[in-house]
Amino acid sequence: MSPARQVAEKSALAAVAEVLSCPECDRGLSPVEGALRCAHGHSFDIARQGYISLLTGAATKMTGDSAAMLDARATFQGAGYFTPIADAIAAATVTGHDPGAHGILADIGAGTGYYLARVLDAFPAARGIGLDIAKPAGRRCARAHPRAAAVVADAWRGLPIRDQTLTAALSVFAPRNPEAVSRVLAPGGRYIVVTPTTTHLAELIEPIGMVTVDPEKDRRLAEAMAGRFTRTEHRTIEYVMTLPRADIANLVAMGPSAHHADAAAERIARLPETFEVTASVTVGTYLPN
Ligand SMILES: C[S@@+](CC[C@H](N)C(=O)[O-])C[C@H]1O[C@@H](n2cnc3c(N)ncnc32)[C@H](O)[C@@H]1O
Ligand SMILES: [Zn+2]
Repeated sequence: MSPARQVAEKSALAAVAEVLSCPECDRGLSPVEGALRCAHGHSFDIARQGYISLLTGAATKMTGDSAAMLDARATFQGAGYFTPIADAIAAATVTGHDPGAHGILADIGAGTGYYLARVLDAFPAARGIGLDIAKPAGRRCARAHPRAAAVVADAWRGLPIRDQTLTAALSVFAPRNPEAVSRVLAPGGRYIVVTPTTTHLAELIEPIGMVTVDPEKDRRLAEAMAGRFTRTEHRTIEYVMTLPRADIANLVAMGPSAHHADAAAERIARLPETFEVTASVTVGTYLPN
C-alpha cells in the first residue's frame, strides 16, 4: 500500500475518532500514533490495512461475510448493476440541508463500503464510518472512499459510537439494531433501511436454488422498528438486469447461497449466455420517535 493511501485511511479514522466510543468503558477515543485510545488507557491499534477493530470479549460466533464473498460482491457492484439502488439510497439520505463537515454517516453492515462511498459522494464534506463484523469488510471499507473510516464491530453488541452523533445511519441488506441506532442518531438524524422484496433475484430461485426472501420480512422489520422509529418515506426500486453467467456466479457467491456454490456452478452452466434477473428493493427512511 502506498504511504499516501495509508495516511488517508488513518486520517479518515482520526476524523471520526471523536464520535467513536471505547467498547470496554464507553469513553471517547482519541487518535494517538497508530491507534485510538480512551482516557482510561484502552488502546485499539489501526491495522496495516487501515481499519480498526473495536471487537471485544469472547470471539463472536457471527463472523460475517468471508473475503471470497466480499470479492464477489465488489465485482458485481463494480459492474454497476446496483447503481439505481445506490442512487436511491443517496437521494434518501440527502435531506436538502448539507451538514458540511459536521455530517457523519455510518453504514452498518457496510460490506465493501460501496453504498457508503456513493452516499459520501453526495455529501461533499461529510465523514463516513463503514462498520462491519468481518475483517475483510474492514479492509475493503478502508479503501472505499477517502472520507470513509473502517470499523470492525458487532452491531448486535451495541455500536461503539457516541450518543446522538450521526447525521444518518444506513442498513443495506444488513443486520439491524434499531435500539442502538436510535441512541447514536443526532436530533433530525435518519435511518435508511434497504431490504429486498420477494421479487428480488426471484428468477434465480428455481434454476439455481438461490435462497428466497422471507415473505414475512416486511412484517418483522415493522415490528423491530415499532416504538422507536416511524417510517416517513419508502420507495420500491425495481428493474431488470441482463446478466452474463459470470455475474450470476458472482451474485450466488456474494450472498447466503454462497456455500452451495459448487452445485450452483453446474446449474449456472446450463443457463443461456445472458439471463434476465429482477432487482427489487425497498428503500425506507425512518425517523426516531
Ligand atoms: C448481505 S451483506 C451486505 C453488505 C453491504 N451492505 C452491501 O449491500 O453490499 C451483510 C453484511 O453484514 C455484515 N454483518 C453480519 N453480521 C453483522 C454484525 N453482527 N455486525 C456488523 N456487521 C455484520 C456481514 O459481514 C456483511 O458484510
Ligand atoms: Zn476504555
